[in-house]
Amino acid sequence: MNVSHFRCSLCNATYALGQARYVCPKHGDSGLLDVVYDYERINSRITSRDISDSRDFSIWRYWELLPIENRSCVPSLRVGWTPLYNAKRLRTSLQLRNLWLKDDGLNPTGSFKDRASAVVVAKANELGVDVITAASSGNAGAALAGMAASAHVPAVVFAPQTAPEAKVAQLLIFGCQVFLVKGTYDQAFELSLAASKEFGWYSRNTGYNPFTAEGKKTASLEICEQLTSLEPISDHKTWSAPDRIFVSVGDGNIITGIWKGLRDLRSLGWIEKMPKLMGVQAEGAAACYNAWKAGTEVITPVDAHTISDSICVGLPRDGTRAVRAVRETQGAYITVSDEEVLAAMRDLACQEGVFAEPAGATSYAGLARAVRDKLVDSDEHVVVVVTGNGLKDVSSAMKAAGKASLIEPTLDAVRRVRANPVL
Ligand SMILES: Cc1ncc(COP(=O)(O)O)c(C=O)c1O
Ligand SMILES: [Zn+2]
Repeated sequence: MNVSHFRCSLCNATYALGQARYVCPKHGDSGLLDVVYDYERINSRITSRDISDSRDFSIWRYWELLPIENRSCVPSLRVGWTPLYNAKRLRTSLQLRNLWLKDDGLNPTGSFKDRASAVVVAKANELGVDVITAASSGNAGAALAGMAASAHVPAVVFAPQTAPEAKVAQLLIFGCQVFLVKGTYDQAFELSLAASKEFGWYSRNTGYNPFTAEGKKTASLEICEQLTSLEPISDHKTWSAPDRIFVSVGDGNIITGIWKGLRDLRSLGWIEKMPKLMGVQAEGAAACYNAWKAGTEVITPVDAHTISDSICVGLPRDGTRAVRAVRETQGAYITVSDEEVLAAMRDLACQEGVFAEPAGATSYAGLARAVRDKLVDSDEHVVVVVTGNGLKDVSSAMKAAGKASLIEPTLDAVRRVRANPVL
């Protein structure tokens, strides 16, 4: 393993791996830790070209850049190496020359969160823990439950009572213990932390566990590696970084992880430029946007409400790093309405065949808004990360999709509807 140490994202204090489990002791639960690698050592062991030759089509192709020692601890479900689609029709409608969709709804439990859960469950196996726990708006929990089932580790998930039915069913079918909390996601987060401290369970809570961002960074490693075969840079010594990446933001750990992956690649000299990160939040849950706009890293909680349940977060737990990710890459935060999210779900599905849950389409809604606001040049290379599958939340999909035609079982009825589709 090539990890050198942990570093506190608030005070820069460093800790050896054995010295800290979750956060910097000086800041209570808010001093989230970055995992720092020995980049010289990685470069002496492997090249980007070696990785591109790998036949391992999962996150584990980046083994030398991940914090796990023992391959036998890795859960068996195949996570990552999701497709990067050339979005040809959306390019035309947005008048962008270079647009790609990274479809992370195709992970085994249907969301981006599988990346984090795979790494955390591998780490839990290494540490020999008895129980893993997480708070979740649905997807992180399902990802944990699925990985834990495949690795035969007991899991306990705390989700808000309002989580969509399909997400709750997914938690239950994987056999984990599910607590539906009468309250918000933020309250479920607090309860799960308290339970982890009280019962000694290993916490996978987003951001609080330093390895969640390490799992999530694999998406940006993939984006740059995949773009290289689609749009090679001449010397082949480096991978191709896009100009902008659009990401939906709730707790802020996905955008933090994506930024971390890009910083790792820059430190290794494997990409030549840092993409601008574009964080997209729902208008009704925009704590990171507010902080970014006010020019501060201090997050003020909001009373969250949005159709994008996965990003319905009042107090983003990784907000400071999420604001920093956008500011330091010269990107921007954007907010979108629920109507824009429903329109984005329709556009992704009708124009490219990609079926996203509301939070998964929020990133695309942000791109559509950014194009309208002239924040993106037509020749920029743009990647939109679709973070969750549409089947996760069928009732929102029905809102976006409209109704089917109910007909008598006759050809005449078919003809009538074909001649007048609004019937
Ligand atoms: C589908 C989907 N998109 C986006 C996000 C936002 O990720 P984060 O909370 O790390 O910002 C989540 C988090 O649950 C999610 O499930
Ligand atoms: Zn600190």
